[in-house]
Amino acid sequence: MKFFIDTANLEQIREANDLGVLDGVTTNPSLMAKEHIKGEANIRQHYVDICNIVKGDVSAEVIATDLDGMLKEGQALAALHPQIVVKVPCTKDGIKAVKHFSDNGIRTNCTLVFSLGQALLAAKAGATYVSPFVGRLDDISTDGVELIRQIVGVYQYYEFGTQVLAASIRHTMHIIQCLEAGADVATCPLSAIMGLLKHPLTDAGLAQFLADHKKVNG
Ligand code: G3P
Repeated sequence: MKFFIDTANLEQIREANDLGVLDGVTTNPSLMAKEHIKGEANIRQHYVDICNIVKGDVSAEVIATDLDGMLKEGQALAALHPQIVVKVPCTKDGIKAVKHFSDNGIRTNCTLVFSLGQALLAAKAGATYVSPFVGRLDDISTDGVELIRQIVGVYQYYEFGTQVLAASIRHTMHIIQCLEAGADVATCPLSAIMGLLKHPLTDAGLAQFLADHKKVNG
C-alpha cells in the first residue's frame, strides 16, 4: 500500500517525507486555498516545489469544468514536472478528459468518486488512480470503506489497471480499514499518518528499557 499525504502544506509534506515512507502527495483546490496559494503562476510554482520535496506522484487538480478547459489546463499541469498526475473530477466532461489524457500518455487521478459506477467509468477511461472519498461518505451515514472494498474487488475481478486511492481519510483507523480493504494507496492528513506510530506499550516498553539500562550503566 502506498502512502500519500493529502495537503499542500510544504512543512507537513517535508515532515512526512522525512519519515522515509512517503510515496506521493495529493492536493485539491480547497487545500491550495488553505495555504493561501493564489494566481496561476504561484499555484504552478507550488506544484513544482512539492515535486522537488517528494520523489513520488503529485496530484494537481484542474479548475476548468468543460472538456476544452480541462484538456488545456491538464496539459499545462502535466508539462510542469514528470511527477505531476492530473486530477480531474468524475463528471461527463471529466471522464472524456481522463480518456483523452490516458490515450496521450498523461497520468490522471479521477476524483470526487462516491459510487462503484463512477469508479467503473474512471477505470474504463484509463485513469491511473481513482479517488473514492471515504470520509465524506461516512459523513452522510454511508460506509466509505465498504466502497473501497467493492471497487478493489471489481477492479481485481475485471483486471482493471486503475489504482484505488482512498481519499478523504480523516483519521488513523480509516488508514487501517482501507489497508484491510485492499486500497492501493491511502492519501492521508499528517496527523493520521503519525497516529499509526502511537502505542502506549511502545512508550512504556521504551521507558523501561532506558530505566534498566541506566540502573546498570548509570
Ligand atoms: O483527498 C480528498 C480530500 O482532500 C478530501 O478530504 O476531508 O475534505 O473530505 P475531506
